[in-house]
Amino acid sequence: MYILGISNIIAVSKLNRKNNVSISKNFLIHQIIFVGLMLVTSAVLADELTEREQAADQVSEQFIKQLGGHLKKEMQANGPVQAITVCKEIAPQIANQLSNENGWSVTRVTTKPRNSLLGATDMWERKTLAEFEAAAAKGEKYSEMKKSVVVDEDGKFYLRYMKPLAIKPICLTCHGSEEQIPAPVKSELVKLYPFDQAKGYKVGELRGAVSIKQPMDVPLYKKF
Ligand code: HEC
Repeated sequence: MYILGISNIIAVSKLNRKNNVSISKNFLIHQIIFVGLMLVTSAVLADELTEREQAADQVSEQFIKQLGGHLKKEMQANGPVQAITVCKEIAPQIANQLSNENGWSVTRVTTKPRNSLLGATDMWERKTLAEFEAAAAKGEKYSEMKKSVVVDEDGKFYLRYMKPLAIKPICLTCHGSEEQIPAPVKSELVKLYPFDQAKGYKVGELRGAVSIKQPMDVPLYKKF
């Protein structure tokens, strides 16, 4: 639009010179106001996107920190079998709470889900996970990556955001190789998740991501 505004002015001034017609002053003023408005609109939009991305950063960090805190505490206090409950119950609770209080969708996704109902990806998420892996193959660190874009889905706009989750040593107890997962954990996992795909990971590999989807027509709930 803004580019359109400028090209209009150029076109009109060219016309003016060629045909020696004097253009109405009002028209020029209109064009200038139009360009000005476009500039202001795009600046406001850019501001809003920065704010929305920062909000997503903070909510994703909150999710990772809260869940990590519960997991560590439970692992130390009651061991890994008990800690499965944290991942099974507390993780979806935190995700639900963060979703509800912001009016967004906040989830953890992966291409190899343990819980295929909650953890499955859509097309954009699969593409983004592949981009994260490609960047890692070139030497970038998962901890420094994130992606956010505005998408149009059937005329409704969303800010989509993803932050990678890499495997750390603590994750191996439940997501590592057959030898790394203690027998009682293994038998509990088999009972709960007969279609589990989330085993066999190594430290540093991409396990999945926090995925956030903000409808652009829902205003930011609080100042981040
Ligand atoms: C005590 C066992 C345990 C540990 C330790 C653990 N997880 Fe999990 N993880 C699970 C279980 C169980 C689920 C399935 C949760 C559910 O039912 O939604 C899960 C699910 C996930 C999911 C959601 C996608 C899916 O596969 O369903 C991600 C992402 C994930 N874990 C990442 C991690 C990361 C990263 C770590 C290390 C920081 C970690 N997990 C440590 C047990 C564990």
